[in-house]
Amino acid sequence: MQAYRASLLRFDAAGQPVFDEDGLLVVGPDAAGRQRVLDAGAHAAVAARHPGVAVMHWPGRILAPGFVDMHIHFPQTDIIGAPSEGLLPWLENYTFPAESRFAVQAHAAAVAEIFFDELLRNGVTTSLTFATSHPQSVQAFFEAAQRRRLRMITGKVLQDRHSPDGVRDQTEQSLIDTESLIRQWHSVDRLGYAITPRFAPTSTDAQLRGAGELAAKYPDTWIHSHVAENKDEVKWARELFPGARSYLDVYAGFGLMRERAVYAHCIHFDDDDRRLMRDTGTASAVSPTSNLFLGSGFFDFEGADRIGCAYGLASDVGGGTSFSPFSTMMAAYYVGREGQTKPGISIPPSQLWWRHTAGAARALGLDGVIGNLQPGCEADFLVIDPKATPLLARKTSLANNLEELLFAMIVLGDDRLIERTVISQALP
Ligand code: GUN
Ligand code: ZN
Repeated sequence: MQAYRASLLRFDAAGQPVFDEDGLLVVGPDAAGRQRVLDAGAHAAVAARHPGVAVMHWPGRILAPGFVDMHIHFPQTDIIGAPSEGLLPWLENYTFPAESRFAVQAHAAAVAEIFFDELLRNGVTTSLTFATSHPQSVQAFFEAAQRRRLRMITGKVLQDRHSPDGVRDQTEQSLIDTESLIRQWHSVDRLGYAITPRFAPTSTDAQLRGAGELAAKYPDTWIHSHVAENKDEVKWARELFPGARSYLDVYAGFGLMRERAVYAHCIHFDDDDRRLMRDTGTASAVSPTSNLFLGSGFFDFEGADRIGCAYGLASDVGGGTSFSPFSTMMAAYYVGREGQTKPGISIPPSQLWWRHTAGAARALGLDGVIGNLQPGCEADFLVIDPKATPLLARKTSLANNLEELLFAMIVLGDDRLIERTVISQALP
């Protein structure tokens, strides 16, 4: 058992923040040797329940759950900031050429290391991650994640049409490869498999049908794709699937909407689409830096809340412009301003933070496992230094309450706030 004393940020079951100015976090191994939170709360009360426990004291620091990135592409690490007039030319000119290099496993392995270094430096401890269409990219990713003992999710991209040589796969082989990767990696250590059709326009009916059949056969795998990001993409999808009520409905028709299905973007939706998301237990990965960068549009937070949709925040690197959850939360705040009909601030800071930690974990079906520091959660946590820069030191010391403190970090923060990222199992 080991205890950490500092300020402590957690969330309750309703998504409200719980903050102990002088907190204590007690962690210890479970039967599998995985470090979990055993107890958490005010120092005086928690210390009294664990006499003699070794305490590491980090004065002036904040312990917080590791961030959860609901949608990111590890092979796009090198194309952050590629200028383009919009999604489809960006895919053609930058993304597919970059992804074609992942046919070489050594290249995939080298980029995976850079990707994990970057995630951890920014305080992200779990991500739902696109690989490429090459099974080797998935092997490289899982091998590196396993070595680092991370909770990570990825899958081989399925794209058997409207894709150039070098990234296009073959229908039957793509499904065989997907199933063998599920059998090899899903639920091994803290790794999870996501069945990953790139988006409906780049898969044939046969590939989408096969993906849906695998999703039914392996119901605790994830499903991960894109939908309704860009107006040209929506128009193209409607032309390719004239029988579907909407672009989203294409996925429903192939059995690709269920619990643990996650769709990035979900911008150009109507209320029928939102109800379909809610009723099937499907979640949205909201990717505001990407949507602003590529000019895709603005996620409708009020619409999602009105209908009761599950969603969380995501970087969508490399369409997204930063690995930092602080950048993503800031961009979500800006996007929340667009179309805002209710008076008041945009999204409250603690809600932004929840949507990138415990709320994202809930949307992924990992409630109580990651994204929080309540008893039972895996001990992936951050040591945050709120005085990491002169301006942060000044601004955080002026905060009158928790919302102001969190907002100061969201507005001014970057990777310098993350003094240390502690991974469950990697503790001494
Ligand atoms: N739609 C299909 N593929 C992609 C991708 O790689 N990035 C984004 N942002 N949207 C997509
Ligand atoms: Zn994406």
